[in-house]
Amino acid sequence: PEGSTPTPVTTVSQYACQRRTTIENSNKIFTDAFEVLADSYEFSEIEGSCLAFRRAASVLKSLPCVVRCLGDTEDLPCLGDHTKAVMEEILQYGRSFEVEKILSDERFQTLKLFTSVFGVGPKTAEKWYRRGLRSFSDILTEPDIHLNRMQQTGFLHYEDISRAVSKAEARALGNIIDEAVHAITLDAMIALTGGFRRGKEFGHDVDFIVTTPELDRERTLLPDIIDRLEQQGILLYCDYQASTFDITKLPSHRFEAMDHFAKCFLILRLEGSKVEGGLNCAEEDRRGWRAVRVDLVLPPMDRYAFALLGWTGSRQFERDLRRFARSERRMLLDNHALYDKTKNEFLAATTEKDIFAHLGLEYIEPWQRNA
Ligand code: CTP
Ligand code: MN
Ligand code: MN
Ligand code: MN
Repeated sequence: PEGSTPTPVTTVSQYACQRRTTIENSNKIFTDAFEVLADSYEFSEIEGSCLAFRRAASVLKSLPCVVRCLGDTEDLPCLGDHTKAVMEEILQYGRSFEVEKILSDERFQTLKLFTSVFGVGPKTAEKWYRRGLRSFSDILTEPDIHLNRMQQTGFLHYEDISRAVSKAEARALGNIIDEAVHAITLDAMIALTGGFRRGKEFGHDVDFIVTTPELDRERTLLPDIIDRLEQQGILLYCDYQASTFDITKLPSHRFEAMDHFAKCFLILRLEGSKVEGGLNCAEEDRRGWRAVRVDLVLPPMDRYAFALLGWTGSRQFERDLRRFARSERRMLLDNHALYDKTKNEFLAATTEKDIFAHLGLEYIEPWQRNA
């Protein structure tokens, strides 16, 4: 009828940084399927389709309710024909035949298996697959396969580091890092970041940011921390990358480019007895310890907010923050800085809230960034 009140429209943004996405996912049946498709396209290096399925999954994760029919998706962004066809199959049959075909494909299964090893990326996995290798024992018994140190460690601790890290274990590691850092310097601060900061119950690793107000100390502190962990006999693996940070550089255009802060990718030995509910497998029970992946990053104090925002994730949230900055604001954002291309100036920030404000975005809490 004329003059009727318009139906309230709640539009879902195409940018994850304008959506609130908790760890509750009502549409797992669809997003799991999309993630298989995205992985499969990633293995085939078809980046456009890979990203399309990752974006579609991210949009559905932000919905408070389960999608019951295709009509429910009418006003949603980032869902193309292919995506909708997969959803239609799932709505009709409870599963997608396209996804099942991928899951039963030998190449997909092998590449998934190989890339599950720490230090093995899609390129290496593909190379091994092409040589006819299909299992770990194929790789480990092949005479002229050279494994780098990271991959050797990956195989050595495969069982442990492929098992999820619990919140209790993350807390125990937090105490270990805290103790190690404060034994060296009393004015350093440690913050939990990554998936655990987003409220996840489990993670594949534990991520920490360490900062110190002492100027330039963040460039030299990390080797001291690593030495300390080594002396304690809990350092199983360490890939240390010294700082190459340069304050004059503009933020990177490339999302996947690593940041320039001092950092290390570690494998630590975590004693089970220290952790409530930490002994979760028979083998570990007997041994009394497990290996865990830990990442440490040390930005200078004035870049702490950018590093915290960048390392909290999720990856999809980070991608869309940068895309939003570039496309909607003519700004460049990365883990180090925010640069306004219109004003030709860097925008300083001491908190994450400052960065959201510079971008003209509503603040999104860490536990709402599970995009
Ligand atoms: N990250 C980064 N630079 C790296 C490694 C990671 O900026 N060299 C960022 C990623 O973009 C991600 C966050 O740090 O947003 C955490 O990365 P990661 O530990 O891989 O993922 P989590 O979200 O913590 O998930 P998980 O529980 O699997 O560890
Ligand atoms: Mn993590
Ligand atoms: Mn990861
Ligand atoms: Mn990590």
